[in-house]
Amino acid sequence: MIILGIDTSCDDTSAGVVAGGRQVLSNVVHSQVKLHHPHGGVVPELASREHLKNIMPVVRTALQKAGVRMSDLDGIAVTVGPGLVGSLLVGLYYAKGLSYVHDIPLAAINHLEGHILSILLEEEVPSFPFVALTVSGGHTSLYHVKGYGSYTQMGQTIDDAAGEAFDKVAKIFGLGYPGGVVIEELARDGRSDIIKFPRAYLSKDSLDFSFSGLKTSVSLYTKKWRKTEMENGGVVLADIAASFQESVVDVLIHKVMKAREEKGVEEVVVAGGVACNKRLRLKLSEAASSKDVGVYYPRPEYCTDNGAMIAVAGYHRLLKGERADLSMDVRSKYPVSEGGLKLRDAK
Ligand code: KG4
Ligand code: ZN
Repeated sequence: MIILGIDTSCDDTSAGVVAGGRQVLSNVVHSQVKLHHPHGGVVPELASREHLKNIMPVVRTALQKAGVRMSDLDGIAVTVGPGLVGSLLVGLYYAKGLSYVHDIPLAAINHLEGHILSILLEEEVPSFPFVALTVSGGHTSLYHVKGYGSYTQMGQTIDDAAGEAFDKVAKIFGLGYPGGVVIEELARDGRSDIIKFPRAYLSKDSLDFSFSGLKTSVSLYTKKWRKTEMENGGVVLADIAASFQESVVDVLIHKVMKAREEKGVEEVVVAGGVACNKRLRLKLSEAASSKDVGVYYPRPEYCTDNGAMIAVAGYHRLLKGERADLSMDVRSKYPVSEGGLKLRDAK
């Protein structure tokens, strides 16, 4: 089965073509980073207009690069939530149009299912059941993944997502949007143990996350540091960045390892934009290898938002005979544990 996957949930217009649920024939992403950079975050109104401009060329390029025509497609998978409503609508209505005109089955996909299953685009894959941490600009959640379409949420952020914390700290530093990559680069020359920023483990058994207190701490520290730069004992911005990053990384690792212990599974997957972070990968791989736990990360282009991961999720839904109804709407909030929505069996 050859599936076209489309994602316009936030600020990337993306389309990918995947064969057999594993083999990427193309993966095209039009990033809106430059557009949103001066605003220090995604401006929803600008994002949806930009998707409108780019959805057709992005899908056309994805098909061209894959060397397939519309008539070769066995299905179209599109993200219907969670995300920005105006952005999601562009992808969904374009996909509906293609599905209707070319008479190709449509699958409605949860963006988070796409992130969880993005690991299937890699050579080495975990076996069910496993624990997945999806960690991005919009989400920080832990799941017990028992099989395709079977996801139980074990924890989630009660305030900011981890990527959002990176983005907000970059804004505090005056480094623009998005913050993950710039903070990681800055932190490379910094001392991670110089400032003891808080680590919000919450209650002893909690698998939830909280990053807003950390962000406030970094903000207060940075304000003070700017005023007293001369007497601060040699602390530089890179030290603040490294100490902040260490706090996020420590909490993520603690919780993911706790979740896998609780479920007694030997493999964990870390996906989403923040999973690109090299410090996170290094420290988690160290923590996991000492306990004989396998850690799987998709390559960076499959960690950040992309159409290929949506095609993977679509492949498994269509294989089960699920079809999205053409009256399908989008959802800004959409827990992945709810399974499919408004789906009907194939005739
Ligand atoms: O998955 P993604 O592309 O979009 C969402 O679904 O949110 O993730 C984007 C997020 C941004 O917040 C960005 O700052 C963060 O992932 N990010 C990183 C890194 N690369 C991207 N955070 C930390 N370190 C990175 N290297
Ligand atoms: Zn995402």
